[in-house]
Amino acid sequence: MDPYLRDVLDICIRMLHVIAGIAWIGASFYFVRLDLALRAPKRTEDAASGVAGEFWAVHGGGLYHSQKYRLAPAEMPEPLHWFKWEAYTTWLSGFALLVVLYYVDADLRLVDPQVAPLEAWEAIALSIGGIALAWLAYDALCRTVGRRSQAALAIVGVALVALAAWGAGELFSARAAYLQVGVMLGTIMVANVLFVIIPAHRKLVRAMEEKREPDPAPLLEAKNRSVHNNYLTLPVLFTMLIGHFAFVFGADDAWLVFVLVAVLTALIRVFFSNWHAGRPVWWIPAVAVVSVVALAIWLEPDSSAPAQTEPVTFAEVQSVIAARCAPCHSGTSAPLGIRFETRRQVEAWAGAIEQQAVVTRAMPPGNATGITDEERELLAAWISQRG
Ligand code: HEC
Repeated sequence: MDPYLRDVLDICIRMLHVIAGIAWIGASFYFVRLDLALRAPKRTEDAASGVAGEFWAVHGGGLYHSQKYRLAPAEMPEPLHWFKWEAYTTWLSGFALLVVLYYVDADLRLVDPQVAPLEAWEAIALSIGGIALAWLAYDALCRTVGRRSQAALAIVGVALVALAAWGAGELFSARAAYLQVGVMLGTIMVANVLFVIIPAHRKLVRAMEEKREPDPAPLLEAKNRSVHNNYLTLPVLFTMLIGHFAFVFGADDAWLVFVLVAVLTALIRVFFSNWHAGRPVWWIPAVAVVSVVALAIWLEPDSSAPAQTEPVTFAEVQSVIAARCAPCHSGTSAPLGIRFETRRQVEAWAGAIEQQAVVTRAMPPGNATGITDEERELLAAWISQRG
């Protein structure tokens, strides 16, 4: 695809994706917090009319009073606000972004021949198949294991996330692998809204309209799925942001890093949930801080001096960069505005060049320009000799 067109599409769709995502996750965080902070209603007439709990808040220049009904009020309220298009828009724009950034030019972006020698169409088919499989497997588990025990479901779920992260790392380029797992989990979250939560709400409203007692089973399952979404949110956000950090997605055990971070971020949601319910559990943030420091130490790239000791001239480096990097990294359409046309530009980016081309080998994408291992070592030697 024309690089300029891709950039324009990238900005437009990304804006939509981030804004819809904020609206969705913001509402979801708000309702989780509200649910956890509910207190028994003060007024007896509220309790008598079926109110299970109430929540007072001050925000934006006023006091708000929310009430949650055990099942439903006697009268159908009008208008009743639904929350679904935030989720659907987030998924639709996210998938469009995946197509623009990874499926178009999949041979460069999704495939890394050093990881798996896939044709572009094979990689796209595996990616889409993986996304569909993630939802089918998760939904089947919820209907079987989840019926008996949510704790057992969590354990099986973490094992399957580990399998998915490892599998994606064996199939796709390092950067795409993280995103693939994020899209699989994000799809589960949106499908929960589309196939479980909203249908349960429809049944509830229909029962109210027909003046029947609503069936609590679908509502309970909707609540479970909503809790799962709450725990999936932070791991998914991590995968969405990590594309900027080659030392994470390019790590040797990138899949394991993701599993650890996913568990850690889920724990952080546990902390906030408890905090909002008035029972903060302080060991969680302590464990989180220690774990992040440990992860940072573990992931620090190995920059020990390469074997080559012959002095490397800039002319040698320049010829490698000109052949292997500058085809993309030059002119006004250079990716991220990173241009390697002059010595100053190359020197200014030396650290990033080492990260991308030597340590993680994320560049060139899919080794599009056929850089050799000797050339990578030459770049490493030059950078280490600069001190
Ligand atoms: C086929 C085109 C192409 C080639 C060849 C290429 N790059 Fe890149 N490079 C990109 C793209 C696209 C990005 C932006 C990735 C993104 O979307 O964030 C990028 C980003 C980068 C970044 C910034 C990474 C970040 O996220 O901060 C560095 C540094 C870099 N490239 C170095 C190199 C070096 C060094 C070479 C040569 C060894 C090289 N690139 C070859 C396309 C290329």
